[in-house]
Amino acid sequence: MTVQRQLSQKPLRIRPIRKKPLIVREQPKIASQAERYERDKVPLMFEPIAHLLLGRITLTPGERVLDIACGTGIVARLAALALGHSGQVTGVDISGDMLEVARSNALRSGASIQWRLGDAASLPVNDGVFDVVLSQQGFQYFSDQSAALREMYRVLSPGGRLALCFARAVGPESQPYQWAKASALTLHAGSEAGRKARQLAPFFHGDAKLILKMVAQEGFSNIEVNNLTVKVQMGPLDSFIHEDLFPDLANAAQTAVVGRLKRAMEPYMNGRGVEIPYGMHIVTADKV
Ligand SMILES: C[S@@+](CC[C@H](N)C(=O)[O-])C[C@H]1O[C@@H](n2cnc3c(N)ncnc32)[C@H](O)[C@@H]1O
Repeated sequence: MTVQRQLSQKPLRIRPIRKKPLIVREQPKIASQAERYERDKVPLMFEPIAHLLLGRITLTPGERVLDIACGTGIVARLAALALGHSGQVTGVDISGDMLEVARSNALRSGASIQWRLGDAASLPVNDGVFDVVLSQQGFQYFSDQSAALREMYRVLSPGGRLALCFARAVGPESQPYQWAKASALTLHAGSEAGRKARQLAPFFHGDAKLILKMVAQEGFSNIEVNNLTVKVQMGPLDSFIHEDLFPDLANAAQTAVVGRLKRAMEPYMNGRGVEIPYGMHIVTADKV
């Protein structure tokens, strides 16, 4: 007997796959270096310094102010607030990323500031159009500091004022963190590593006498160099001293450097973490 299998003649039905709604989760935005600078460093360090810098110069309503190496714009914003609606503030920086953050912060704070991309050694502005030139913690990064001073003089109107600030030379009192880091690196990584740590920035210049001479050479008068020390509250020690701060060092040397650095910072500990002195110069001068 042959058993024939009855094949179903029914047409094959393909069930549609039930589509789940596609959920696209919003990716957490990774903060850029400039955003992290504004978020982490400005409130701790650069805003307090900006108040000191602006305290050295009296801004009058209606004045035109230039902030060179404005970064994310803290000095320009505070100047704009001090001047009110009648003043004009321009910020110049060589970094488009820093300017982008500066622009969005200024919009949020309601300050009206012009932002320009440019190099301090060749400013994108006309001669004699500012009453005040400010520059905070940018000077140590200028590869041609004399050219930058010449430009500051050029863009000021006669009677214009300059206020400039930058870090003092690294020493146990002026920059104890940097001093301890340089000493530890000299010991565990050699004198060249220690020398570099003492530099603070690529074209660092912490010598008051030499700055005074350079500022005078570019034509400024009534030059004053003031020493100031601010205390920067850095948060818990472990959050900013890590082995990975020294990626070029062998593990044992990293551990030794970090250990030394932590011991050196113990005198600066308080309930909120570590509060480190930061010594700087504020230079004021006039274009007569
Ligand atoms: C430590 S930040 C200071 C920023 C800002 N003045 C503040 O107090 O927050 C140094 C800034 O100098 C800028 N800079 C470095 N070299 C420059 C140059 N040659 N011309 C203009 N800006 C420069 C950097 O892009 C950076 O924004």
